[in-house]
Amino acid sequence: MREQIAQGLEDARGRTLRLTDLDEPELTAQHSPLMSPLVWDLAHIGQQEDLWLLRGGNAAAQGLLSCKIESLYDAFEHPRATRVDLPLLSPREARGFIGDVRGRVLDGLDGLAEPTPERLFPYAMVEQHEQQHVETMLATHQLRHGAPLLGAGAPLPGGRVLPADSVLVPAGPFTLGVDLDDEPWSLDNERPAHTVDLPAFRIARVPVTNGEWQAFIAAGGYDQREWWSERGWRHRVDAGLERPLFWSADGSRRRFGLVEQVPADEPVQHVCYFEAEAYAAWAGARLPTEQEWEKACAWDPIEGRRRRWPWGDADWTPELANLGGAALRPAPVGAYEAGASAYGVEQLMGDVWEWTSSDIEPWAGFETMLYADYSAPFFGGDYKVLRGGSWAVGGASVRPSFRNWDLPIRRQIFSGLRLAWNVV
Ligand code: AVJ
Ligand code: FE
Repeated sequence: MREQIAQGLEDARGRTLRLTDLDEPELTAQHSPLMSPLVWDLAHIGQQEDLWLLRGGNAAAQGLLSCKIESLYDAFEHPRATRVDLPLLSPREARGFIGDVRGRVLDGLDGLAEPTPERLFPYAMVEQHEQQHVETMLATHQLRHGAPLLGAGAPLPGGRVLPADSVLVPAGPFTLGVDLDDEPWSLDNERPAHTVDLPAFRIARVPVTNGEWQAFIAAGGYDQREWWSERGWRHRVDAGLERPLFWSADGSRRRFGLVEQVPADEPVQHVCYFEAEAYAAWAGARLPTEQEWEKACAWDPIEGRRRRWPWGDADWTPELANLGGAALRPAPVGAYEAGASAYGVEQLMGDVWEWTSSDIEPWAGFETMLYADYSAPFFGGDYKVLRGGSWAVGGASVRPSFRNWDLPIRRQIFSGLRLAWNVV
């Protein structure tokens, strides 16, 4: 596990440095009020690493930054839209700082006398924190206006025509969540493993595509009140929603500065929870709960146990799921037959984060981890759970038990949906 962590930290840092290898004005600009300047994410990555790995979480201890500078990187203290006005470290200072922290962290990791899973966990946590900010920085890149900086993305496998649109998940108990012993990278809100009994349901084999979303638009879905929840309709009207974010009325979309035709067979992304809910109602379906999603993803009904991944216990390879960020887009539906779950559900990991109908709440027996404010402040708030990870997720920062969350109006994230149905 120690070698995997050292490698994971290095992979995350490679991605961070590639996304911030830009001229100073690109790094210090506020590309959207929804996002921080990239140079804030850059130094915040190092500030968190300093706090959790060099000071064991003791915020009162002296870190590599002065108290005054360090407080600029407190995400609770400074909302994203205000960070551009702070006296932040310059790009050069930020790079120096995060490199300095990393050097000391690797020395500490090398010197760990007894690398037990408990002692290694904080490193796994920090590795994932950096990868999460890499995804956040990709969302900032996507919101940015101007000539493309990242290219068109790496090639992906082709899609295929699918035989059936949904699979049955019969009623019965399964194990929801994981324990640290089974999943050394699991974060606090994924634990503990516990038994949950669900009624039967059906779930779509693949996520909803752009072509299907275009049919919803063409049928007048955005103008028909009946498909929308009360809050959803109010938001649709107030925000003037007419189509996914980054789409134009002429059938094109903007993707990392490139303008291209919307590909019909790709999972739709950049829709908010309220749009997902309306689409599902129009399609005669609903969104899955996160419990349903996790059962369809990880449960093996023949063996009566969880799989580590939908496809089994083997590590991820590029033939199994679109993860890692190189593609800069989701893969067409049907591209990952080999990545299917025990129930035959495909593209659960990677491609797009999938909205669920669940609010983020702790599992029974929840205990906070070292980074106590990672999950707990968000329980009971106005947040919906997203599952499965997008194409932008890197390294060890997603798995079947992983729970992401965001406000139901957010759509700059790489979010799509998959349908579910009651079985009567
Ligand atoms: C888990 C993606 C909701 O970005 O708000 C990063 C991750 N927490 N730094 C977020 C996170 C603190 C978090 N999400
Ligand atoms: Fe953070």
